Amino acid sequence: MTDAAVIDAIGHHLPEARETNDELARRIDTSDEWIRTRTGIRARSRAGDDEPTSVLATRAGREALGRATNGGADVDTVIVATTTPDMKCPATAPVVASDLGLENTATFDINSACTGFLAGLATAAGLITSGNSRAVLLVGAEKYSSIIYPQDRGTSPIFGDGAAAMVLRPGYRQQAGAIGRVHLGSDGRLWALAHVLSGGSAQPLAADPHDPFLRMDGRATYRHAVARMTDSCQRVLKDESLTAEDVDLLVAHQANARILTEVARELEVPAEKALVDLTDIGNTAAASIPVALSRAQEAGVLRGGETVLLTAFGAGASWGSTVLRWPELTSPNLTTTEGPNR
Ligand code: ACO
Repeated sequence: MTDAAVIDAIGHHLPEARETNDELARRIDTSDEWIRTRTGIRARSRAGDDEPTSVLATRAGREALGRATNGGADVDTVIVATTTPDMKCPATAPVVASDLGLENTATFDINSACTGFLAGLATAAGLITSGNSRAVLLVGAEKYSSIIYPQDRGTSPIFGDGAAAMVLRPGYRQQAGAIGRVHLGSDGRLWALAHVLSGGSAQPLAADPHDPFLRMDGRATYRHAVARMTDSCQRVLKDESLTAEDVDLLVAHQANARILTEVARELEVPAEKALVDLTDIGNTAAASIPVALSRAQEAGVLRGGETVLLTAFGAGASWGSTVLRWPELTSPNLTTTEGPNR
């Protein structure tokens, strides 16, 4: 009998347009040098006006389904992890499922900001092992440019748009690609670290022009992100009787290159094993972990049989981690010079 959900396929979609640091510096008070040294980011991906989150998610979903066993014909659940849904209501997942031609599927969104994909993995694994789903399409998709105040120099340089999708199906714990324990946590007292004030039931209408956009206390977020991701990683490693030495690749939420380096140092994972995949796309929030995995897989940076440690911290404040053995997946060779390095 099946006792785990396993990864069957992965794919991603990034909008073509990039806003470079120099272009950004022409419209806000910042510089290429400041952004590069503080974040490691050189450019961020920008979706067009005709590319809402559902469009990015559908393109990523199509790529993953195209690589899945039987073309993902047995997918009966679509989950979209996003903080930037097309609309407040309904969820984005039913739109994505319909655009992918998936009928009569269970659909829902998960809003856990940058931790959303890990929350989605835990949910998908639960649905599969309980027998509620035969196969799940889990998408992390974001259009953060839609909630960034254009003149805010604290958030404009950081966030990018993009999506990635994974197909999960029933399997066995011992198999490569099996999802084990996903450690999730939160501290709601810290909700103000990163938030969008208006548009919800607490404040439906904007009182200030900044209210419909993201406000972030970058320095405090940074501090909590390093502490929580480190602690969460240590827990999952301990749960699986693994140590930092067993980790082949650390794929942390791509918030800031300095955070990635610091988490690796705290965990005593060598810096070259910490994947950096934000240089040319920025922080794509709930999409960042699956985009990084998909691009690493395509670039041959992540190979079947390797032990991957995933961790995220995001608004909420929320965090999560899991560790897994990467499966052998089929994907085309990378044809662009963009991509992750380690
Ligand atoms: N260009 C130039 N100067 C700037 C800029 C900018 N874009 N932004 C801030 N500064 C200035 C500040 O005004 C400040 O100046 P002062 O010292 O004269 O007051 C100085 O630079 C330092 O500002 P900090 O905000 O302390 O800069 P920091 O080094 O912390 O870098 C950053 C800011 C990049 C945002 C960093 O804190 C960070 O990456 N934080 C983590 C964000 C994160 O993890 N987000 C993901 C989770 S959120 C979610 O889930 C939605």
